[in-house]
Amino acid sequence: MTFRQKHLLGIEPLHPEEIRTILDLADTYVDLNRSPTKHSDALAGMTQINMFFENSTRTQASFELAGKRLGADVMNMAMQASSIKKGETLIDTALTLNAMHPDLLVVRHPHSGAVDLLSQKVNCAVLNAGDGRHEHPTQALLDALTIRRAKGRLHRLNIAICGDIAHSRVARSNILLLHKMENRIRLVGPPTLMPSGISHFGVEVYDDMREGLKDVDVVMMLRLQKERMDGGFIPSEREYYHRYGLDAEKLAYAKDDAIVMHPGPMNRGVEIDGEIADDINRSVIQEQVEMGVAVRMAAMDLLARNLRDAGDKGVWV
Ligand code: NCD
Repeated sequence: MTFRQKHLLGIEPLHPEEIRTILDLADTYVDLNRSPTKHSDALAGMTQINMFFENSTRTQASFELAGKRLGADVMNMAMQASSIKKGETLIDTALTLNAMHPDLLVVRHPHSGAVDLLSQKVNCAVLNAGDGRHEHPTQALLDALTIRRAKGRLHRLNIAICGDIAHSRVARSNILLLHKMENRIRLVGPPTLMPSGISHFGVEVYDDMREGLKDVDVVMMLRLQKERMDGGFIPSEREYYHRYGLDAEKLAYAKDDAIVMHPGPMNRGVEIDGEIADDINRSVIQEQVEMGVAVRMAAMDLLARNLRDAGDKGVWV
């Protein structure tokens, strides 16, 4: 198996072979999770600490369940109440935690780069559960697994990522991953919600939904991330839904068997019509949640193996 990383900080440093390794192992965990006894001992004796400096429902629950199913001792730190300050505060927190000898640290933080910084201060494996607008690697991996299982492959697909690209770490990690796996990526949304320097991403950009969705295999919708906006990026939510909200009429431009994805949380009636989201023939949104647990189990299992190997060789500690 090829997976040489000490941490999972982003998709950027991963080799396509490493991505395949995670997804292949995750497939076996999907089977385990569907069985009545959902337990393995891959992380037995290990301690996993979840530190979420930003609100999260599914990602935190998913990491917690993943760790428990692999037999780790899992602790959730309540970080919301603590002062979200960068620099010394974050490093102090990291050093305090490090002294408790965790093996895996799962971190979500509102500042891009904060998780990377923290990983340099600790001895354990660090998993990025989302840092600012930067990366959200396990989300991209679970999306990739969902696509691979639905489409039977993860290359040469036409994939439209739609909506608030500029503020989205989900979009960024997905663009990196889908690009590495040789897919054609289209970004669809208003110019105000496109990141700067988009021309370097190797993508096609559309501001018209119908054109952007024409003949695609996958439609990935994103939430309008209002908490990251500091001004008027859209005229109104009503207008936005009219132009960019995914409804049956716009989806009809995609291939007949195109799947619809959304990382959650969804704003029904803003970026997606509720009926499309619930249509089990098109929407794979629930599968994404299921794949999330399996992918996180696979990622933590692989990092734990590397941690044990490094421990045996006397490096990293
Ligand atoms: C995403 C996130 O937090 O970046 N959600 C998630 O992890 N499922 C996307 C979002 O908040 O819109």
